[in-house]
Amino acid sequence: MPLLGSILASGDADVSDSKSRRKKKKKKKKITAEKGAALKQEQVNHFRHVNHIHVVGTDVPDPASSFDMLGTDYQIQEVVLNNIRELGFGQPTPIQMQAIPAMLHHREILACAPTGSGKTLAFILPLLHHLKSPQRQGFRALVLSPTRELAKQTLREFQRVADGTGFRIHFIEKASTAVKKFGPKSSQKFDILVTTPNRLIHLLSEDPQPISLSNIEWLVVDESDKLFEEGKSGFRDQLAMIYNACDARNIRRAFFSATFAYEVEEWCRLNLDNVLQIYIGARNAATDAVEQKLVFVGSESGKLLAMRDLVKKGLQPPVLVFVQSKDRAKELFHELIYDGINVDVIHADRTQLQRDNIVKGFRAGKIWVLICTELMGRGIDFKGVNLVINYDFPNSAISYIHRIGRTGRAGHRGKAITFFTEGDGVNLRSIANVMCEAGCQVPDYMLQLRKPRKDIRRKLAHSAPKRASIRTIPHQDIVKARKRQGKPTKRKAEKSQYQTEELEPANGVFAKRAKGEQKDTKDVLKQLPKPETVQSKEQKGKKKKMKGRHKSES
Ligand SMILES: Nc1ncnc2c1ncn2[C@@H]1O[C@H](COP(=O)(O)OP(=O)(O)OP(=O)(O)O)[C@@H](O)[C@H]1O
Ligand SMILES: [Mg+2]
Repeated sequence: MPLLGSILASGDADVSDSKSRRKKKKKKKKITAEKGAALKQEQVNHFRHVNHIHVVGTDVPDPASSFDMLGTDYQIQEVVLNNIRELGFGQPTPIQMQAIPAMLHHREILACAPTGSGKTLAFILPLLHHLKSPQRQGFRALVLSPTRELAKQTLREFQRVADGTGFRIHFIEKASTAVKKFGPKSSQKFDILVTTPNRLIHLLSEDPQPISLSNIEWLVVDESDKLFEEGKSGFRDQLAMIYNACDARNIRRAFFSATFAYEVEEWCRLNLDNVLQIYIGARNAATDAVEQKLVFVGSESGKLLAMRDLVKKGLQPPVLVFVQSKDRAKELFHELIYDGINVDVIHADRTQLQRDNIVKGFRAGKIWVLICTELMGRGIDFKGVNLVINYDFPNSAISYIHRIGRTGRAGHRGKAITFFTEGDGVNLRSIANVMCEAGCQVPDYMLQLRKPRKDIRRKLAHSAPKRASIRTIPHQDIVKARKRQGKPTKRKAEKSQYQTEELEPANGVFAKRAKGEQKDTKDVLKQLPKPETVQSKEQKGKKKKMKGRHKSES
């Protein structure tokens, strides 16, 4: 019995031994798996840290360090990857590293990344992957952009990346022709729609609706903070209507912008499914690829002098010049065309054909200096813009970030010069702060200016301040001189000129017309005191006031 007992005992011992060994092994395995996971997480965190990727959310997919990795991990179509290689994109940018895997995991996202950092490809690639292949089911992906120019640009990028896949991507050129174009059947052949909200709303309000958004699987809102803005220049109501029309149960949404707005974040947190927020770098920061400078010009009239001074010193085209309104864009154009600069102007009053031709001309290097309004402030990607001039001070730090972001894109460096006058105090502090955060030098006093009241800033953000007209010669002198010569006043002449503009394509026409008109204006100029004299007289008094205070930055 004892023997049996001992045998039994030893058998028991053996069993419990192997049990504990198994337990230990399991524990060890668990520990190693935990350690492995922790190590991997550490590596992922380090990778995010190095690339300035910040994420807010749960179950965040790992970032991808290369397009090849995306190809193998998510089986991205080889034809799409080849197109990306052919575009010369060696490596994903930080926003692409994180936003692409997130969207490939069907996550709804709110993404903020600096201007020119490749947000467009960050949504194009996952969209093409999810839609798999062209199917005659009508639109399955919708991308909204605030301006026609940006929508067209996004369409072009889509076409380049989707080349060879057979996807049919559509841009609503004109709502009126689109109504005829789309019938319940014909709109079936398209897969992706890129548009501005206004054009789409026009189609949605038709009865019967020529377009259906019921099959939309992905809704991408580019420049999301702009599209969330309320009021005359905002798209809030249109966005809400489109959002409701996208009524598929499985719809996913993604919001992109270079700037962050609390109300967009709040809305996304409340309305999106387990939203993942992705931020590259600091929120609402300007790209650090732009060397930024503030130039004090005294009064409005000092701007033309400063502009001509820049031209005299030598501008390196292409150059973008921002003004605050269409009228001011026209005025500045009329001044610069006489300086023999290869200049053109784009604004909402110009026809679509003119706008397209100007964009083409500027891209092709035929136009060196392009005067524009806020219309071109967001998203527009002109290759190699060397300099952005803010002729008129931007009406918010957000507008400043987007405007100067037209240069310093895709790894290139750029320069931005911003004129400011005595009247531009409201946003001076916030813009100086943006510059400071991007590593640019600004005088201390600007950072210490008192913060203007929120309502004042808000008011300014929605309506530009009144500014004296852009002209070298005082208006009354021009009127007098023209009257003496029995010629129509400049305003009348300008009016008829802009009427003809609407009918003509942009390229070359301005130059021809300008030559004809140059003669008249030169005659007028001869009879008037020299612009510089007029300028210096006007400026003298005001300069005295500012003397000392702004000395360093002027
Ligand atoms: N991985 C990449 N490598 C190199 N260049 C890239 C890459 N991805 C995109 N680009 C290029 O970078 C430029 C800027 O891209 P994009 O217009 O998408 O910027 P963005 O982040 O949307 O800027 P914005 O905020 O002004 O709209 C484009 O010319 C684009 O072709
Ligand atoms: Mg963009």
